[in-house]
Amino acid sequence: MSYPSENMQKPGKKNALYAQSGGVTAVINASAAGVIDACRRHRSRIGKLYAGRDGIVGALTEDLIDISKENPATLRGLRHTPAGAFGSARFKLKGIEQNRAEYERLIEVFRAHDIGYFFYNGGGDSMDTALKLSQIGSELGYPLVCVGVPKTVDNDLPLTDCCPGFGSVAKYVAVSTREAALDVASMARTSTKVFVLEVMGRHAGWIAAAGGLAGRKAGEPPHVILFPEIAFDQAHFLARVQQCVTDYGYCVIVVSEGTHDADGRFLADAGTRDAFGHTQLGGVGPLIANMVREHLGYKYHWAVADYLQRAARHIASKTDVAQAYAVGKAAVEFALAGENAVMAAIVRKSSRPYRWAVKAVPLAQVANVERKMPRDYITPDGFGITAACRRYLAPLIAGEDYPPYRDGLPDYVRIKGARVRRKLATGWKL
Ligand code: F6P
Repeated sequence: MSYPSENMQKPGKKNALYAQSGGVTAVINASAAGVIDACRRHRSRIGKLYAGRDGIVGALTEDLIDISKENPATLRGLRHTPAGAFGSARFKLKGIEQNRAEYERLIEVFRAHDIGYFFYNGGGDSMDTALKLSQIGSELGYPLVCVGVPKTVDNDLPLTDCCPGFGSVAKYVAVSTREAALDVASMARTSTKVFVLEVMGRHAGWIAAAGGLAGRKAGEPPHVILFPEIAFDQAHFLARVQQCVTDYGYCVIVVSEGTHDADGRFLADAGTRDAFGHTQLGGVGPLIANMVREHLGYKYHWAVADYLQRAARHIASKTDVAQAYAVGKAAVEFALAGENAVMAAIVRKSSRPYRWAVKAVPLAQVANVERKMPRDYITPDGFGITAACRRYLAPLIAGEDYPPYRDGLPDYVRIKGARVRRKLATGWKL
């Protein structure tokens, strides 16, 4: 893999910028690899490919990474390396009216580096930023093609069958639930009776639902799933836990971090907010476990999957890796086909066998819309997943895509991150 050097660049050929945004995933770098490979394949039409160091923050501060300086083996290794190789950011650009200066600065940086294509790899908030940038670009007379590359473990973007990153978290959660449930079952007679696994998913229960894939038949663990879509009812919950321990000898619970009460209050609001104003969540697992002990007296264990779930590239879903790569590649192809202000979305053609394609959908319809679990994916009692949900989820965790191992550990890559020479006299204070 090699790139034309700066002085070989054809005049008139625009450069491209790729940036990662929001919470990272096990496969976001596979999307980066898709973008990189496609830009290389189309090097007759796209000049240099840069990456924002720490996402949009790198673009604002003119801290750009020259991808052509990376070792080809490192770039190939991105496909199997978790987390955000170029750095990601939770940095919310306000509305154009509230902070026009930020958008103008971005356009100034783009103009200085002759960037004509912007590939933004993120969730709902990032799709909104990409949309606004495409708008202000045309307003300022600087044509900029903005294409969104979807990513979020929460699986809450609309108009796409699923979001890259989700399938691998789903697989990790389903595998971990099945394994931990066997552990509890073997000790339950004399020891632990309740196991609680807390998983991510701020407002949507997709990840918690994936825990349900661990059980194949009625009565198999997990016995209780707590979704953000269903208001938590303590009495109802405790009665169910007690019934499970009576019937099966133990109870396995998967709880979404976004579980809240009937008034919409998160059970585990840590009291802090991120740059997007999102509540920092975490700790509902131990809270639930403690509730069980206090009211029912059972010995328990709990685990918070936290970053382990979204970093778990070693057990990534093969389908997810393939989709992450495909949306990155398609984003470049859409841009070259003249599409602007669109996101590369996954379309499900059939579930069995799972067949899918990638199409462009307008960013305007994606930005800031959260897709939650439909009610008919949750059993009427609110504690489990239905057959329809299982049909939806099952193909997303299918297949394994193991990374190479060295000395017993996954052999992940790290980029050099060579900085592109600055061209602007002024800096930018965040
Ligand atoms: O990006 C989504 C997500 O993984 C959520 O599920 C989780 O609540 C959040 O990110 C954690 O974000 P951070 O790493 O910024 O605390």
